Amino acid sequence: MRKYIVAGNWKMNTTVPEGVALAKAVVEKAKDIPANVELVVAPPFTHLASVAEALKGSKVALCAQNCADNEKGAYTGEIAVNMLTSVGCQYTILGHSERRQYYGETDEKLVVKTKLALEAGLKVILCVGENLDERKAGKHFEVVTSQTKNVLYNFNEEDLKNIVIAYEPVWAIGTGETATAAQAQEIHACIRSVIAEKFGITAADDMTILYGGSCKPSNAGELFAQKDVDGGLIGGAALKAEDFIAIATSF
Ligand code: 13P
Repeated sequence: MRKYIVAGNWKMNTTVPEGVALAKAVVEKAKDIPANVELVVAPPFTHLASVAEALKGSKVALCAQNCADNEKGAYTGEIAVNMLTSVGCQYTILGHSERRQYYGETDEKLVVKTKLALEAGLKVILCVGENLDERKAGKHFEVVTSQTKNVLYNFNEEDLKNIVIAYEPVWAIGTGETATAAQAQEIHACIRSVIAEKFGITAADDMTILYGGSCKPSNAGELFAQKDVDGGLIGGAALKAEDFIAIATSF
């Protein structure tokens, strides 16, 4: 059964007290969310333990924004998967375009990180998406197909149950420019067919594929109405509990 998810990626925003207040506001409003929609919040690492406390007893899941590509040891500044599970994380985002662009995240590294995360019992929200030049050159299907294959094809059908894909066209992130519902739908359908090709129709049908990139209350309804769009990975609008919840009630 396909799951619908609305996840908030807070990126490098909010102090710990601000983050806790935001988490509490989300929990408070989450009561209005339909039962078949899962809410997820991804605060910065420093916030995870305190936000976990704020989420206790709620149905809102805790997510990291990244994890290390090693289990433990002399990797100054890195955060290991078992550190994330030890503070109550259920998910981690991996391969966000900002990490690919600014921190040299490669598909090869993402395979390692995804393996470590799954072994630790974390679910993975794996981000894919083309940049503006690639879109202009008409290479968006090609780019997204290869990003998806390069990581997912190293896993099996059982692993896939704990992986969510987020399609985030880089040109739509934080720009106010959203992919049209039709643009999102055609890429999501493409991702699903890439999954079906290797893992079969059932696995592809069950995969949750989120859209991210300037998703807000005013456009979420149209995006989520597409048959292959199963929710959103929300940046800016996730920093306001009201907007985040309004998005999650847009299905
Ligand atoms: P915005 O919603 O701010 O465009 O960010 C999207 C995003 O990158 C979520 O991971």
